[in-house]
Amino acid sequence: MTVSPRAIHLSDYLPYTHLVEEVALVFRLAPKATRVAATLRLAPNPARPGRHDLRLDGENLRLLSLRLNGAALECAPDDTGLTIPAAHLPDGPFTVETEVEIDPEGNTALEGLYMSRGMYCTQCEAEGFRKITFYPDRPDVMAPFRVRVEGDLPVLLSNGNPTGQGTGWAEWVDPWPKPAYLFALVAGDLVAHSAPFRTASGREVALNIWVRKGDEDRCAYAMDSLIRSMRWDEEVYGREYDLDVFNIVAVDDFNMGAMENKGLNIFNSKFVLASPETATDDDFARIEAIIAHEYFHNWTGNRITCRDWFQLCLKEGLTVFRDQQFSGDMRSHAVKRIEDVLLLRARQFREDGGPLAHPVRPDSYVEINNFYTATIYEKGAEVIGMLKRLVGDEGYAKALDLYFTRHDGQAATIEDWLTVFQDATGRDLTQFKRWYTEAGTPRVKVWEEWDGATYTLTFEQENPPTPGQPEKGAKVIPIALGLLNPNGDEVLPTTVLELTEGRQSFRFPAATRPVPSILRGFSAPVVLEREVSPEERAFLLAHDTDPFNKWEAGRALAKDLLARMVTDGAAPGPDWLDAIARVTFDETLDPAFRALALRLPGEDDMAATLHAGGVTPDPARIWTERRRMAEALAKRLGPQLPGLIEALAEPGPFTPDARAAGRRSLRIAALNLLTRIDGGRAAQAAYRAANNMTEEVGALVALLEAGAGQEELVAFEARWAKDRNVMDKWFALQIALAHPDRAVGVTEALTRHPDFDWKNPNRFRSVIGALSGNHAGFHHASGAGYRLVADWLLKLDPLNPQTAARMSTAFDTWPRYDADRQGMVQAELARMAATPGLSRDLGEMVGRMRG
Ligand code: ARG
Ligand code: ZN
Repeated sequence: MTVSPRAIHLSDYLPYTHLVEEVALVFRLAPKATRVAATLRLAPNPARPGRHDLRLDGENLRLLSLRLNGAALECAPDDTGLTIPAAHLPDGPFTVETEVEIDPEGNTALEGLYMSRGMYCTQCEAEGFRKITFYPDRPDVMAPFRVRVEGDLPVLLSNGNPTGQGTGWAEWVDPWPKPAYLFALVAGDLVAHSAPFRTASGREVALNIWVRKGDEDRCAYAMDSLIRSMRWDEEVYGREYDLDVFNIVAVDDFNMGAMENKGLNIFNSKFVLASPETATDDDFARIEAIIAHEYFHNWTGNRITCRDWFQLCLKEGLTVFRDQQFSGDMRSHAVKRIEDVLLLRARQFREDGGPLAHPVRPDSYVEINNFYTATIYEKGAEVIGMLKRLVGDEGYAKALDLYFTRHDGQAATIEDWLTVFQDATGRDLTQFKRWYTEAGTPRVKVWEEWDGATYTLTFEQENPPTPGQPEKGAKVIPIALGLLNPNGDEVLPTTVLELTEGRQSFRFPAATRPVPSILRGFSAPVVLEREVSPEERAFLLAHDTDPFNKWEAGRALAKDLLARMVTDGAAPGPDWLDAIARVTFDETLDPAFRALALRLPGEDDMAATLHAGGVTPDPARIWTERRRMAEALAKRLGPQLPGLIEALAEPGPFTPDARAAGRRSLRIAALNLLTRIDGGRAAQAAYRAANNMTEEVGALVALLEAGAGQEELVAFEARWAKDRNVMDKWFALQIALAHPDRAVGVTEALTRHPDFDWKNPNRFRSVIGALSGNHAGFHHASGAGYRLVADWLLKLDPLNPQTAARMSTAFDTWPRYDADRQGMVQAELARMAATPGLSRDLGEMVGRMRG
């Protein structure tokens, strides 16, 4: 990475010069000219002795007036803020009043105060508050807020508790000191789906989910998820809610998933609204997880926040870890773990192995919005999972209790977090800290030896170089191990080995040669390398007692096979086909697990695996061979598929619970295979018969993957044209599943569709993001996929740099491919880099990817 002069470094951290003792804001809303009056009560910060200028951040603000202790002050802002020289400031506390004008309607970046289809809303994390008023916009400045909103709209919301309202105005007080990134305001013609909640200690809380009229019948699942999340946090972490109201608002134009603003969470509407007719089982599961995630931030993020943005994983890694625990408790831990690892490998391992690799706690950035990544979130959660494994459940519980008591009300660091664990458990975490400071996915090689009496496992860890970090030390790697004897009985139940050195051996008494089950539950985010025969993999798939490793054995079998099909034209043999067939029809297993076992390795995953093994991946060939693999499986299972589909039909009305969803997922997986050999008859019938979105989409996907489905696409569009969230699926599916030679053409055609509202991030992602997710289409040898995606990123960037930058990660895998593709990607990156006026967001991403 070329370190730009504008890069910000962790090592430069200094506390803010002043303390903000109170903030009072008055908003007079108008689409093109909203007035924001701010009164800040400030005092010198004893942590920064001496006299200092007062520097307030501010961007795109028209300053109308400025007063210091009530007296007008002439002081011109610059591009990034406003400085009041120390000479003007009194020694003690003082008050600064500003009034500014902003343009919410002209705000296409969706950061700060903006409008989404007639409603006002905000997104302030990470640095959006500076687009609302002049303020020290940094997370370690925490203050109580009072807000008055004036506007000609029926619902006027802000953080905290309501303290008064009348026609055209409302007042809110948030007693909990908070950083500005947690500020929120919403105004609109909204209706609430409401429910009461009583906390463990008896506080009555009014819960409201605010949506547009007509959407109120799609809030029940989100509300149910919220209530279960609140209860769970009380029961599992002892954390209660701390205000009289908890509001959630669904917004159609949103850059991310959702935001944990204190007492006023704002959500991308696709992660709130759900009914059986419009949402798939995956949508229901994601809504449950994201509602929980944002709610859990109330303690891990809001009550205890981050000292600076380098500490982002302090709140995000922990909150993802907590939402994963919650989903596991609500559903199935085994299935949840497999799904989380699939996602970790697809996103985080990919990021960690390419030019965008960065530590869980980075030490520099140009644009912080570029660091809301799979590494900060998902690897951040994995690191906590390892910590919990190393200190045990009791140690973890003690450490978390100490964390909440010691740091409540503070802006903390990763050092604070690790110190809490050291103090609570006595464990030295010096070496463990490398997980936070060093990027890259460790590779762990394993050898085994058995001499008739002792079984020895030898591990070797390698920590590959990443941008800016050529050399790394050995990490602490918890390896959960079990041993089976040759008849399939477990002879060593799960035991955690601690790998702390570059090379280390562990010995076990064994009178017969055992079969090892290594890295159970995916106990560390590493790549395990071990020579294993297909027989041994099939044995583990049949006998392992650890559900993750049981699934992993089947996945490894499939990946080995697909790799051989791609590299030397091997054909799918009975070892894999029979093993998968046994799992598919094993009624003692959870249907959701069986569906996961049937899922073939993804194309991008295969490309990464081939590359790691020294083979240059050919995307078109991976696509063809993966199809051939699915067809072979379809033929092998074929005669039994109709019976399986029949047996899994749910008689009663739709319920979104894990049991019913698991049955549907296996049923749809079976239908998908059957569609490859029956000419599409079963899927066409299933499409017509579907009475819920899961089956409607499942049948449509099966048809599209088989190269059919055109009639169904027409019917789908006719039925759902008015429903944005559903239509996003319609756009995305036909691009993501298009034949590689047609993906670019289909995308281009859909960009001319009248409903391709490209300024809406969800729609943009559904079209342009779907193309970059079509591996063989995006990496088409013509280079047309690269060109089209780059064209659209350049078009979006001036309006919405955050989303453009985020989607540019499509290009981060170029080093894996052949010289032609590398050259074409480099040319697109160079073209983007040379574009005048490129945003800091996209500029940083492109710069890092070029290397
Ligand atoms: N804190 C939010 C969450 O994880 C994400 C907000 C990210 N926003 C951004 N502009 N990068 O729930
Ligand atoms: Zn979060």
